[in-house]
Amino acid sequence: MNDPEKISPSEYLASLPFDRRLALYDIRGSIAHAKMLAHVKIVSEDEANLIVTGLVDIGDELERGDFPFDIEREDIHMNIEARLIDKIGPVGGKLHTARSRNDQIALDLRLFLKEAIDEIVTGLNTYQQALLVFAEKHIATIIPGYTHLQRAQPILLAHQILAYFEMAQRDKERFKDCYVRADVLPLGSGALAGVPYEIDRMFVAKELGFMTVSPNSIDAVSDRDFIVEFEAASSILMMHFSRLAEEIILWSSDEFGFMQVGDDYVSGSSIMPQKRNPDIAELARGKTGRVFGNLIGFLTTLKGLPLAYNRDLQEDKEGLFDTVDTVIGTLDMMAGMATNLSVDDSRTREAAEQSFNLATDIADYLVAKGMPFRDAHGIAATIVKDTVSKQLFLQDLSVSDYKKHSDLFDDDILKITVQSSIDARQSYGGTATIRVQEALATAHRLLGDE
Ligand code: ARG
Repeated sequence: MNDPEKISPSEYLASLPFDRRLALYDIRGSIAHAKMLAHVKIVSEDEANLIVTGLVDIGDELERGDFPFDIEREDIHMNIEARLIDKIGPVGGKLHTARSRNDQIALDLRLFLKEAIDEIVTGLNTYQQALLVFAEKHIATIIPGYTHLQRAQPILLAHQILAYFEMAQRDKERFKDCYVRADVLPLGSGALAGVPYEIDRMFVAKELGFMTVSPNSIDAVSDRDFIVEFEAASSILMMHFSRLAEEIILWSSDEFGFMQVGDDYVSGSSIMPQKRNPDIAELARGKTGRVFGNLIGFLTTLKGLPLAYNRDLQEDKEGLFDTVDTVIGTLDMMAGMATNLSVDDSRTREAAEQSFNLATDIADYLVAKGMPFRDAHGIAATIVKDTVSKQLFLQDLSVSDYKKHSDLFDDDILKITVQSSIDARQSYGGTATIRVQEALATAHRLLGDE
């Protein structure tokens, strides 16, 4: 076993190994802050220009990858500030006037998260687009619909796929809603009590594109709700992905044989040459656990914290970054996988026709002829039981077989097919072809591609 390296207290304290990811946001925040300091005459225009030029320079170093990170300087904020002073001299020390790392880190996180949410919403649109194309292609594909994973009633595959579209739509709303709470400027709260300078917070908010400024300095430096909300929205999204992944895994098994996952999304086995393992779907399902873990882990970190800033809050970052990366990666995979599924229409139709998926339709037939639904349900159940005992399916029955159970049966009972069953379900939100076509049109409108 590798001996774990002993770490020093300063290494234990350091957030640099992970908060360096916030470097460019930190610089953006500092530039806005420096401009504000000049605007309210806390520093001169010349001093601010020097500071801004220095920060832009440091930004270039970071982009080029030759910024000299120094772990002794604990975090990204101190690294950048020290580098600024190295570059422009003591005037660089004026940047931290009317600011604390406590409001600075809250700012960096919000800037980072707003961008991450934008990217996720864009990703969700692409994913929905992929679902829509897939659904449209399968407007005529009939599958068995399931409850309790038992065949229940025939449905259109497009209808089932649009169910995932709906989930994604709610996910998008949740992320956009979470954005509103992230879109609040905490800078200007100082360490916790505000700052003894006449600063202009609205100026900074405008510079950085924030909707509003935080109204309470203590809350501003302690609040990480926006991270919790984001991780919760991400958890729900991943739960949805995991359910779709599970269906893809089931449906691509030999037992179902409904579809094949595209070549890029399966792996072979090292010993069994016939295998097409749905590893990408399995990993999407598996990674969901990590994203849930990040949410619960961070909620646990927060639950005992007194106000205001406590160093525990530094634990917000790694889980957040991991969640962002996992969600963005999984979004790409799920969109790609949805685009590359090939469905065996005849096999799905056969599965829908077999078993007793039309039993409800037989009851509904009797109801249409005036029988109370409860009685009709009883008769349909007896017919199913009889047919099963003879090892037959409903489509093997003749009109006279039906008539034995009720006089209300007529020749038209044989007209019930999976297609007629589907198209009878015309209630708003139902699986009838006409309803699903409307739903597809609505989905297009929602995505704004009309
Ligand atoms: N690295 C810290 C964090 O991530 C930055 C804020 C530190 N503030 C402090 N007073 N030590 O939360």
